[in-house]
Amino acid sequence: MWDVLLTDCNAATMVGVAPYGAIPDAAIGIAQGKLAYVGPRAGAGPAHTVRPLDGAWVTPGLVDCHTHLVFAGNRAGEWEMRRKGASYEDIARAGGGIVSTVKATRAASEDALVESASRRARAMRAQGTTTVEVKSGYGLDLATETRMLRAAGRLGEGLRVARTFLGAHALPPEFKDDRAGYVDLVCETMIPAIAREKLADAVDAFCEGIAFTPAETERVFATAKAHGLRVKLHAEQLSDCGGAALAAKYNALSADHLEHASEAGIAAMARAGTAAVLLPVAFYFLRETKKPPVAALRVAGVPIAIATDCNPGTSPAASPLMAMNMACTLFDMTPQEALAGMTRNAAKALGLEDEIGTLEAGKAADLAIWRVCDPCELAYWIGADLLADRYFQGRSDNEIAS
Ligand code: NIG
Ligand code: FE
Repeated sequence: MWDVLLTDCNAATMVGVAPYGAIPDAAIGIAQGKLAYVGPRAGAGPAHTVRPLDGAWVTPGLVDCHTHLVFAGNRAGEWEMRRKGASYEDIARAGGGIVSTVKATRAASEDALVESASRRARAMRAQGTTTVEVKSGYGLDLATETRMLRAAGRLGEGLRVARTFLGAHALPPEFKDDRAGYVDLVCETMIPAIAREKLADAVDAFCEGIAFTPAETERVFATAKAHGLRVKLHAEQLSDCGGAALAAKYNALSADHLEHASEAGIAAMARAGTAAVLLPVAFYFLRETKKPPVAALRVAGVPIAIATDCNPGTSPAASPLMAMNMACTLFDMTPQEALAGMTRNAAKALGLEDEIGTLEAGKAADLAIWRVCDPCELAYWIGADLLADRYFQGRSDNEIAS
């Protein structure tokens, strides 16, 4: 006997050959927080509660696999400067950018970080997100980096949180003249402490002209691996530094941004099974012109994920559906690819593909239920109220609210 049976719905399972893996007139059985059955209504078994969904579409809960959700303050002032012609790199070189968020975050308490991040997380949940990845990287010292990761760990009500340590995000001001000293601190002190306290599942770095070199990134990766942590990389966002190939060399879960990725980098990612995470809102917000090589990623068979990149500098966005819309309008992805990018492929980019990302028996009952006539609409509407309900580990938001 299942706990819940959802009926009178269409399921976009995101597996199989049909567009969206669709099962029309589907039923979904839930038991003990997991999917027990996803198939035609006729094959369903008995349940304690039967809930007809009035013809709604059910998708996997959305997976936002690249965010910097925890930070203090904001950078609206810098954005105004950019409107007057300053570039993201100019601002970073002048001591603004990431470092200005570092100042605000170092001054914030854990409770304050939880409070502001919770508001953004709430907005994401209202658009169907059930899993969010959260990076550190605005502390750049052990105390603040661990505080950010602890704050991220406290966002877990109704949300699965995957935590990523991004100590190699920017050079902190106190190490301005000692790059090697900071990389030592990341590798010799921060990664061991974070691994010991199990504060993160993965380690990320920003490999870029304004951030860390491939050699520095490689040291961070080697240390992460030695401590049993998976790696991911901000790669080829503003220039081609060979980050995609480096990520592949360390079997990274994902290489992210990739606007400037080369054919060689893509081929290496395909061989390593490294997912591509594309971040169209950051592309839009920085008014970049070089698009990521979507066609080449497709041909190479690299799984393509889409994420919000929610952060105060390049993507002040808490809307997964907007990111999907922009993946289609700016990067020429199809609505089906955009939804796969926010579900199945995003789960892969987090190494969680056995637990979430598709509607299949045995996976977590993390679902989004939408008032749409076709799943294409999820990437089509901008700012519409489409979510009818969300299930997280088998529990409905509506039930919890009522
Ligand atoms: O994903 N590229 C580096 N990190 C962020 C931006 C962080 C910031 O500007 O605060 C990104 O775009
Ligand atoms: Fe990012």
